[in-house]
Amino acid sequence: MLSEKIIIGSDHAGFCLKQQIRDYLINKGYVVFDIGTNSAEPVDYPLIAKSVAEKVASSEYQKGILICGTGVGMSICANRFKNIRAVVCSDTTSAKFSREHNNTNILCFGQRIVGEYLAKDICDIWLNTQFKGDRHLKRVLMIDDL
Ligand code: RB5
Repeated sequence: MLSEKIIIGSDHAGFCLKQQIRDYLINKGYVVFDIGTNSAEPVDYPLIAKSVAEKVASSEYQKGILICGTGVGMSICANRFKNIRAVVCSDTTSAKFSREHNNTNILCFGQRIVGEYLAKDICDIWLNTQFKGDRHLKRVLMIDDL
């Protein structure tokens, strides 16, 4: 949904793909805030994940995108935050079902894993798929009780 505000971040290992995805989404008309990093200089991914996760958890931004080498470190960090449901995706099917069934609010992927065009397709599907609610809502609410 174009009305949703998106925050995007990466470490050095996801920097190039982050620039491409940011520009792609802005050109589509999304409001995208880029929290960095802004170069290929090494930076610790937990710090970037924290900045994005906090701003999604507080509803300042509706969705977040995190890119590192694999997407794994970013997703582990983001999922430490209450109300964050982060998915690491290397395929469009997982992106779709993570929205329909799990109501994911942060998408992670890896610059060393997915190419630019697959990453764009993953973003398109993830951003345009709605949570199905119903029986899935009960299960998503159970996550917070774990
Ligand atoms: C950085 O080398 C790399 O470890 C990081 O980008 C990420 O892939 C961690 O999960």
